[in-house]
Amino acid sequence: MIKKSAYAHAFAFYLVSLASAWIQYPPDGFATMTHYTMPSDFVASCGCTSDSSQFPTAAMNQMAYGSSTSYGPACGKCFKLTLLNTFLSDPPFYPPESKSVVIKVTDLCPLSTTGWCNATENGPNAGGHDLNFDLVWPSSAIPDDFFPSNETLYGASYSDFGVWNISYATVTCQSNWAGSKDAAALGSVASLGDGGCCPANPTGNANNTCPSFSDQSGVPYVISIWFGRLCTYCFCCSPDTTTSSSSYPLTIPTSALVVLCASLSYYSLS
Ligand SMILES: *[C@@H]1O[C@H](CO)[C@@H](O)[C@H](O)[C@H]1NC(C)=O
Ligand SMILES: *[C@@H]1O[C@H](CO)[C@@H](O)[C@H](O)[C@H]1NC(C)=O
Ligand SMILES: *[C@@H]1O[C@H](CO)[C@@H](O)[C@H](O)[C@H]1NC(C)=O
Ligand SMILES: *[C@@H]1O[C@H](CO)[C@@H](O)[C@H](O)[C@H]1NC(C)=O
Repeated sequence: MIKKSAYAHAFAFYLVSLASAWIQYPPDGFATMTHYTMPSDFVASCGCTSDSSQFPTAAMNQMAYGSSTSYGPACGKCFKLTLLNTFLSDPPFYPPESKSVVIKVTDLCPLSTTGWCNATENGPNAGGHDLNFDLVWPSSAIPDDFFPSNETLYGASYSDFGVWNISYATVTCQSNWAGSKDAAALGSVASLGDGGCCPANPTGNANNTCPSFSDQSGVPYVISIWFGRLCTYCFCCSPDTTTSSSSYPLTIPTSALVVLCASLSYYSLS
């Protein structure tokens, strides 16, 4: 029996940390690659120096990047990315030559419900992968013909396939990343202070790898307010969706997204 009078005005708060929800990924594997335009000399989410943009850089999808805003554990990491095939074209395109680029992660590709940066612990993106590398391209550091096509087969409209299936390998930045010998391209913008984190050669050790900015500052979280028998309000203090290519200083988002509330109900035990 449900005692309405006893519970009608009862409520409880639930704070659910999403800190454990970051995607853990192996050092080598498969991923998708997209590309985006970033102005040269732009200071992206990690706060890496503007000179870093003169070398190959990329954004990483939020749940693998490890923070919903500002810097995260992926910042500064270097990966060798190798084009394998397109899969949205009909037929898929397998380029005759193998093309690779070594990038440094400098930016965050925000979590979204669809799109290529939407992988979570609960499922991959539409390419079946947990990781998406959003390459800064065009770039003075990468040839304009980096992405191959075959106009005879696909026509001029497919000079840019947009999304690629790739393999990735974690590599040390030293000796692999084109900017690793350029002091001006390393580290974070000094004026950002603790607001930037861009190690020259992060290895995953806490000594040389960025923490999660959003874990440190308490973003994101979910509040459920239970009213009587029903979960009447649930807010998810947003995983930030405004940081990609936004300039510093970033403001922590205050807007909230309403999430999963409908199917929950509360039953009295007495
Ligand atoms: C990501 O979006 C695609 C559609 O673009 C969808 O098929 C996939 O299930 C989504 N993944 C997650 C984890 O939401
Ligand atoms: C990506 O490439 C791997 C290795 O060839 C393959 O197993 C996988 O099916 C490919 N995925 C897509 C979406 O093409
Ligand atoms: C394009 O595809 C056609 C048909 O498969 C092939 O004969 C030609 O060699 C390809 N061209 C290039 C540049 O790969
Ligand atoms: C990391 O820092 C701790 C404390 O300063 C030190 O004991 C440890 O040896 C360091 N690890 C590496 C790999 O440098």
